[in-house]
Amino acid sequence: MSALTATAIAHPNIAFIKYWGNRDENLRIPANGSISMNLDGLFTRTSVTFSPNLKTDLLFINGKPAEQVALRRVSRFLDHIRGLAKTDWYTEVVSENNFPTGAGLASSAAAFAALSMAATAALGLKLTEQELSRIARLGSGSACRSVPGGFVEWQAGTCHEDSFAFSIAPPAHWNLVDCIAIASSGHKSTGSTEGHSLAFTSPLQLARVADTPRRLDKARRAILERDFATFAEIVEQDSTLMHAVMMTSTPPLFYWQPVSLEIMQKVSQWRAEGIPCCFTLDAGPNVHVITLSSSAPEITSRLSVIPGIQQVLQATPGGPTQLIEQ
Ligand code: PMV
Repeated sequence: MSALTATAIAHPNIAFIKYWGNRDENLRIPANGSISMNLDGLFTRTSVTFSPNLKTDLLFINGKPAEQVALRRVSRFLDHIRGLAKTDWYTEVVSENNFPTGAGLASSAAAFAALSMAATAALGLKLTEQELSRIARLGSGSACRSVPGGFVEWQAGTCHEDSFAFSIAPPAHWNLVDCIAIASSGHKSTGSTEGHSLAFTSPLQLARVADTPRRLDKARRAILERDFATFAEIVEQDSTLMHAVMMTSTPPLFYWQPVSLEIMQKVSQWRAEGIPCCFTLDAGPNVHVITLSSSAPEITSRLSVIPGIQQVLQATPGGPTQLIEQ
């Protein structure tokens, strides 16, 4: 039998209501639900080839063989898909990001969303969007949110079956732009998989989780009603709540750099001047400044001149993970 191959592309996403901490580490069942937007213009393109001639799994990221840790994580993930398709063929995975590597942009969401679609399609598994979202979650929690398009909610659920993401509005619903100020210091910080496992060592995590339904409702409603003022308030509060948990974990995790805080303060001033904008930060020092398309050029030029900012990327709401070749 000859090799089975497929290629898919997926966008990373930025969370407006964050996922931090799991109730089941293995299955990546999150402690709380989350809401995000896919990022158009940024993508991971992944080709997968299952072959009876391969003696082991192979993984290439941006043209280079991946480190052992990454290969082991991908192999374990592929074992799950091989189990579903009842095959023991090994796989060659070739993955390329079009965004700068080492810039501290989380790429695992796009990577596992694209890999889920390419691998299941190559093996002839016909899955619904919901099934694909669940599978992507097993590779990286936030990857389940890159499967559906536009504005997306991940319902936390309690087990594998009911923990998946779905679209709450299509990309064209709201002309938001994410202006991403790249402040990466280059040094490797604690990855999110390890970070999630520390979340409940913070005395603040239980309170954060208990309050999540309120934040989800507020953010969901603000998105559906395109109410930027309410959106800005809840997005900033949610980001800072997550970072408060990170900073008070054992051991503590400080992802902010001085320039991150400088931008957060500037964003408040810009908003007071009447420019619609708000900040949110993931597990790194980069600041995502969310604005409306009419203000994106102004925000981008203001961010670009801040010392310590290497680059500013812009992304509008992106579509779902897509199969491009089979
Ligand atoms: O999917 P993971 O394990 O890389 O976790 C993502 C964690 C954050 O980016 C900090 C928050 C989020 O909801 O995306």
